[in-house]
Amino acid sequence: MSGPDVRSPAGAAPAPGPAAAGARGPVAPDSPDSPDSPDSPASVAPEVKAGILVEALPYIRRFWGQIVVVKYGGNILRAKVDSPAVDEDAALASFAEDIVLMRSVGMLPVVVHGGGPQIGQLMARVGKSTEFRDGFRVTDADTLDLVRMVLVGKVNRDIVKSINVHGALAVGLSGEDANLITATARSASLGYVGDVVEVDPVLLHQLLAQGLIPVVATIGTDLSGQAFNINADTVAGALAAALDAAKLVFLTDVTGVRSSPEDPDSLIPRLSVDALAAMVDSGAATGGMIPKAEACIRAIRAGVGQAHILDGRVPHALLLEIFTDAGVGTMVRA
Ligand SMILES: Nc1ncnc2c1ncn2[C@@H]1O[C@H](COP(=O)(O)OP(=O)(O)OP(=O)(O)O)[C@@H](O)[C@H]1O
Ligand SMILES: [Mg+2]
Repeated sequence: MSGPDVRSPAGAAPAPGPAAAGARGPVAPDSPDSPDSPDSPASVAPEVKAGILVEALPYIRRFWGQIVVVKYGGNILRAKVDSPAVDEDAALASFAEDIVLMRSVGMLPVVVHGGGPQIGQLMARVGKSTEFRDGFRVTDADTLDLVRMVLVGKVNRDIVKSINVHGALAVGLSGEDANLITATARSASLGYVGDVVEVDPVLLHQLLAQGLIPVVATIGTDLSGQAFNINADTVAGALAAALDAAKLVFLTDVTGVRSSPEDPDSLIPRLSVDALAAMVDSGAATGGMIPKAEACIRAIRAGVGQAHILDGRVPHALLLEIFTDAGVGTMVRA
């Protein structure tokens, strides 16, 4: 495919296109001629399959060479022990396929992840209690160590591994690497909970120019080197703004933004930033939706084209959002 003449964000080299993606790209299937993989049921007529591919074409052309920041919620990765109904391995594998597909057709995905439930699980295992204030985990020095171990050492590795079964593509990093995220304490009473002060996206641009997929754990540091635990939605919004991303996508454990959080029938398919801000002010968006809403608002006001909040538990939700006309979840625009 020959895409539009899009330079890489770093400006040093052309954005890696499908040829570059092929060099590092997905491992070829053992038998390309095999009629039907488990994901490709024989019951789907050939013309329907062709129609689906054609439907993707304008989206591939539009987002070729464009950065898309995708935040993967820790709640999707919730351990089976907490919620046997959730198969987080399958959810992660489907997410990894979507990310690799995006990369393979010339988009530049950047993954940011959470890990709240996984942190809570390790804290419980080592017998350390967790206190939440205003939705944030009060983080003393011991808690910060545990947060880092889980986010950088476990969740980040799990996502990188899932992507790299398709080829040498993902590189895991934390906001501490190359001063990617400079942070400051959010409030004295929360301990080492941080807010983003500045993003230095040079490292991300370098990785993207090499055809790689950065996977970011959300620890930042202040100028003295002190680490902080930062909400992953906040980081995703700040990275999308700093990278001038075309899209910011949140994969979470709810169908999208709802006018009543508990009512699935109250899903709002489209929202303006002003309407979303009003939902936060009125209390219609609560808890984990607040940092997501604030991140959408911040990113769009900084020039990011659109933000989406989708149910990451639905197989290939990301693929449906990026490559088809079907509106899934909530889209937020200026
Ligand atoms: N108006 C609303 N519409 C939809 N969900 C809402 C709303 N207000 C609050 N919520 C809550 O926000 C939650 C999503 O945020 P949450 O922080 O729990 O998940 P996450 O950000 O995907 O995971 P993590 O924080 O681990 O990365 C939903 O499960 C829902 O309970
Ligand atoms: Mg959250």
